[in-house]
Amino acid sequence: MDQPEKKMKVLIVEDDTFSRQYMASVVRLGKYELMEARNGVEGLKLFESFAPDLIFSDISMPVMDGLEMLERIRRRSHDTIVIMTTAFGSAEFTLKALRLRANDYLVKPILPKDISAILKKYAGVLSARSVEREVVGLILERNLKMKLDNRLEMLGKVADRLMQESEGRISPADRMGIRLGLLEIMINAIEHGNLDITYFDKTRATESREFDLHDLIVERGNKEPYKSRRVHIQFQMTAEMCEWVITDEGTGFDWRSVPDPNDPANLMSMHGRGIMLARLNFDEVIYIERGNQVILRKRLQPAN
Ligand SMILES: Nc1ncnc2c1ncn2[C@@H]1O[C@H](COP(=O)(O)OP(=O)(O)OP(=O)(O)O)[C@@H](O)[C@H]1O
Ligand SMILES: [Mg+2]
Repeated sequence: MDQPEKKMKVLIVEDDTFSRQYMASVVRLGKYELMEARNGVEGLKLFESFAPDLIFSDISMPVMDGLEMLERIRRRSHDTIVIMTTAFGSAEFTLKALRLRANDYLVKPILPKDISAILKKYAGVLSARSVEREVVGLILERNLKMKLDNRLEMLGKVADRLMQESEGRISPADRMGIRLGLLEIMINAIEHGNLDITYFDKTRATESREFDLHDLIVERGNKEPYKSRRVHIQFQMTAEMCEWVITDEGTGFDWRSVPDPNDPANLMSMHGRGIMLARLNFDEVIYIERGNQVILRKRLQPAN
C-alpha cells in the first residue's frame, strides 16, 4: 500500500511581522507544514518541538540573532536545511552564516517565486533522503558511473544515490553540504551545460515577470541539439578520498572568471552562488579545460 506522502516541515524565523506573514503566505500555497517564530529563542524552541526539515531565518533579530540560533542548531543537527534571508548589503553576515553551515541564502526583497523555487529544490532532496546504513560504511573502495538525461527533477534522487555510495565514510557534519554541493553542480551541468542557458538568461528570469526560466528549460529539453545531450557522472571512493567527476555535453564557460567566493561583494546577486556553495563544501572544485567537466573532491578521515 502507498504511504501517504510526508509533508515537509518548514519553520520561518523573522522578527518583521510583515515579512514573516508574507513569506508564510507563499509557503502555505504548497503542501508544507508551517510554523513561525519571531526571534532566535522562539526559533530554537520550535526547532526542538516541531523538528522542521527546512528553516528560513533572518540574520539580524532581537533577543537572539539568526547566526547564534544557527550555531546552536548545528550543534544538534546537520540534516536540517537552513536558509538565511539576508538584507541587501549584509554580505559579511551572509558569508559568516555559510561558514556556520547555513545551506543557502536568499537576498531581500524576496519574491514569491524565489521561495517556491527553493522549497521545490529542497523538497526533492528531503524526500529522497536515505537512512544511514552501517555496513556500507565498512566499504573502502567503490566506483560508480551514471549517465543522466536533462530532467532536473531527477537530481534529488541522483544526489541521494551518490550519497549512499559514501555512506558512513563522510562525516555526518559534512554530508548535507556535500549533497547540496553535488546538486548545484549537477543543476549547472543540465541548465548551463546541456541546455545552454546563460548567466544572462538567469538574470533576466529573476528580474522579469514575463520571462520564465522554467519555460525555457522545458523548451530546450525538447529540442535538438540540447535534447540528446547527457550528463556523465563518475564517482570514485578510495581510502583517502571521495571524488566525483561531472561532465556535460555543452560548450563550457570561462570558469577562470567566476567570482571569488571569499569576497563578500559577490554574495549579493540573486544567483551565481551554486559554484560558491560547492566550493565551501568540498576540499577541491576543479574545472577542466573548456569548463564542461568538474572534479569535486572530499578528503576522508582514515577508516577505523
Ligand atoms: N557546466 C556549465 N556549463 C556552462 N556554464 C556553466 C556551467 N556551470 C556554471 N556555468 C556558468 O557559471 C555561472 C555561475 O554558476 P553558479 O552555479 O555559481 O550560478 P548560477 O547557476 O548562475 O545561479 P545559481 O546556481 O545560484 O542558481 C553560470 O551562470 C554559468 O554562466
Ligand atoms: Mg547554478
